[in-house]
Amino acid sequence: MRGPAIATAMFEILRRDGLARIGRFTVGDKVVETPALLPVVNPKICTVPPRELHDRFGFNALITNSYIIRNIPELKEKAQAMGLHEMLDFPGVIMTDSGTFQSHMYGEVEVTNEEIVEFQKSIGTDIGTVLDVFTEPDWSHEKTKRSLETTLERTRKACEIKGKMMINGVVQGSIYTDLREYSASAMADMDVDVHPVGGVVPLMEQYRYSELVDVVMASKKGLNPSRPVHLFGAGHPMILALATLMGCDLFDSASYAKFARDDRMMFLDGTFRLQDMQTLDCGCPACQGHTLQDLRKMSKNARTKLIAEHNLYQITQELALVKRYLREGRLWELAEIRCRAHPALLDGLRRLREWQDLMERYDPISREGAVFYTGPETRARPVYMRYAERLNSRYVPETRKAALFPEPSGKPYSRPYAEEFARVRRAGYTPVVASPWGPVPAELDELYPLAQSVFPECQDRETQEESERLTAEFLESKFDVAVEYDQVPDAEGEDVDADKIRAKAVARYQFGIDAADALFREPIELVKSKKTGKIRNVISDGEHVLSMRAGDGMYTLRMEGAKRIVAAVSAPYMRVAVVEDSVPFVSEGRNAFAQFVLSCDPDIRPMEEVIVTDPSDRPIATGRAFLTAFEMGSMKKGMAVKVRSGSDDE
Ligand code: GUN
Ligand code: ZN
Repeated sequence: MRGPAIATAMFEILRRDGLARIGRFTVGDKVVETPALLPVVNPKICTVPPRELHDRFGFNALITNSYIIRNIPELKEKAQAMGLHEMLDFPGVIMTDSGTFQSHMYGEVEVTNEEIVEFQKSIGTDIGTVLDVFTEPDWSHEKTKRSLETTLERTRKACEIKGKMMINGVVQGSIYTDLREYSASAMADMDVDVHPVGGVVPLMEQYRYSELVDVVMASKKGLNPSRPVHLFGAGHPMILALATLMGCDLFDSASYAKFARDDRMMFLDGTFRLQDMQTLDCGCPACQGHTLQDLRKMSKNARTKLIAEHNLYQITQELALVKRYLREGRLWELAEIRCRAHPALLDGLRRLREWQDLMERYDPISREGAVFYTGPETRARPVYMRYAERLNSRYVPETRKAALFPEPSGKPYSRPYAEEFARVRRAGYTPVVASPWGPVPAELDELYPLAQSVFPECQDRETQEESERLTAEFLESKFDVAVEYDQVPDAEGEDVDADKIRAKAVARYQFGIDAADALFREPIELVKSKKTGKIRNVISDGEHVLSMRAGDGMYTLRMEGAKRIVAAVSAPYMRVAVVEDSVPFVSEGRNAFAQFVLSCDPDIRPMEEVIVTDPSDRPIATGRAFLTAFEMGSMKKGMAVKVRSGSDDE
């Protein structure tokens, strides 16, 4: 006979963008792909039956309320006798809530934490919830802090008695970012399986999105990245892109059914009352073939069901779109577009700028898609900050004189400006283009995100002013002389080897000055593509050290290059050290997995080139980091480094 299955909470990151991730969340023998929305099923009403939610709408997880079930003798008995899955006729993952929300709505609840946790176990819940204390947005700091201690104590107790049920450890803390972070860090240290961010329903109901952003980001800062984050009570399609971008993996919606009962329809730009609507211009399967008039004439029950289905379609369609944009590396764009649906959402997006530092640690170094500028808020993306920072700290100009060019209409800039760049270089000037990113030295113009970005030709004043400010600062700090390009006198003489300047400037930008200097030992030979003329390989002192990707203009590091960096720059710079047991596998070119990472450079960003080493700092492979350093230290599963070539291959 098989023993009881051990609760194996496992969360693996498959794709990422911003703080967002596509994850595989394993719950016992079931798998939920995140981001996922769990429809709320009211066990008394079941507006859309759970079986339909599963079969027709494709939901493979739902949430229901154990407190309500426990309070209705008939349901309680049934749930305990046949189990929740059979009672609801739902084969997917079932999460249950604990009664906390009822206490928020109606005051006290008549159940203890231990009782409700035990009850959830007794009905076969997959993921139960602690009886957390709902912290209201108008509570004082002191009152919030006190109640947090109660929630933490109850969570500790729940972890002790949870058995094989998984448990939600809810982050509370009202609107106080210090308390959110404190609460999140405490939850991160406990044996909980999912991290819901709670107490946010009033903020969403009141459209207080900038505070919501603070609350989510402060919580994310303290949480354990190896567990999924659930934004408790968030299920409106208008918030999904922004919330996913901030790293929320799970959502739940009771509104689809609640709103339907009040004749309210959800759309991407808000919720609208049937009585106020002018037309029913919706192409979802539920609305198809219906007009506003027939909807109004339907029986109440039929209409409620139709609107609930419409609301579910809106949510599932938006979530599918969020996932697609996430996969394509364009979730920032979608969030920016969606946040223009309502000024309060725009406030949320604008508030995200304050969290740029945290965002930057997770935001991939490069993406497949181009950066599309959607407005001044785009400037708050970490990609801007990173470019400005690296340009400042890693760029070394070839000459002390700069020639300033206006942005041309083609990219990369060295194409339309081929002759002019060569001319000013002959005169000893370094070409610099004033772009919407700020200054772009000619040698960096093929690099992500500079060439892989699209801006409107008609620039807004904010972008123009910021670009001018950055350019002036750059010219001031890096050059002795700066003139407009057409003021540069013609000079006789040899053409400057711009490819060599580019090859080294990109290496410095990508790897830092010391590592780049180790890579570029004379003599340097550049192998270029016959078709595009772009640099393909860098051969230094007879050894192939780097290859350049055409797509993002960045390098991939070869084993020989890795050895030079390891010899020249001390650990942990650019390193991911793996345990002895995984050395033979990684040396053969297999990926490095998070559970085998021994230590790593704390500054690793996703998609960055890294060197995998053995425990004694011997390089065994090169590849691209898929996780941040923090994640490598905490994920129990999944790829940490996508290895390109191991030492055995060379
Ligand atoms: N549902 C919506 N918000 C909350 C919350 O803060 N805690 C719990 N347990 N359930 C919720
Ligand atoms: Zn519809």
